[in-house]
Amino acid sequence: MDDGCTSLERKAELDAYSREVYSLGIDKYVEALCKHRLEGMKRVVDVGCGSGQWMIAVAKLNPEAEVYGIDKDKYLMEHAGKEALERGIANCLFINDTYENLPARFEAFSVDLILCNSVIQYVDTGRAMCVFARLLKPGGRLVMFNNHGSGYYLRRLLLDVAHCEIRRALYPLKVILHTLFPKSAFLGRNISDRFMTFHEIEAFASREKIAMERIMNEFNHNQPDTFLGFTCIFSCKGTKG
Ligand SMILES: C[S@@+](CC[C@H](N)C(=O)[O-])C[C@H]1O[C@@H](n2cnc3c(N)ncnc32)[C@H](O)[C@@H]1O
Repeated sequence: MDDGCTSLERKAELDAYSREVYSLGIDKYVEALCKHRLEGMKRVVDVGCGSGQWMIAVAKLNPEAEVYGIDKDKYLMEHAGKEALERGIANCLFINDTYENLPARFEAFSVDLILCNSVIQYVDTGRAMCVFARLLKPGGRLVMFNNHGSGYYLRRLLLDVAHCEIRRALYPLKVILHTLFPKSAFLGRNISDRFMTFHEIEAFASREKIAMERIMNEFNHNQPDTFLGFTCIFSCKGTKG
């Protein structure tokens, strides 16, 4: 799926991201999932699983489940595979593809839980909800944590500058500039991030009859994997009605 041409700059960025999310320890993610009663799942899909911390946590919590991670980025998925292997988690399965192809890979209404964390802002939200509604069993759950928008990149920029890592600071700087000036031709390929509110996501979900409930909206005290408090952090759960 991935063309295998990830640039050195991008690889460094992805390595830094993976290091950061795993620095918290996987049990932090398990703890966060426990709060939302996500045990007893049989089939789980982590959409845009990235470096895999959430799917590994859900696999640990549900050792009987098949936990699929799908991501279009092969490099990040390789990280995820290594992390699962190192922890002896055997029920993680990886699919290097775009989420749009999920309906061709899974029967309709066959998934208990979809995780989709910090992904919805990068994809066609309406289409994603339509795919999720098709996959979820009646009563299935859709869980989204931490729609962090640009907070991660701002934090990265500040840290890189503070550590005089000026070359490394260029990537987060570019994302922030793109986010502020999305139409600027001067900045080249658009890599902007975007912040979505709960209500925006809820409106897309309700069109597909996925009921969303906001179960948290707070600054990031205890939630792992939230990068800067000023963006709205929420978790939501959905039940197909
Ligand atoms: C900010 S990362 C979040 C990764 C992970 N969910 C986490 O919480 O750390 C966004 C991920 O979405 C993936 N992604 C973006 N668009 C996608 C698509 N259409 N299909 C599959 N994955 C996608 C990216 O490759 C990236 O790994």
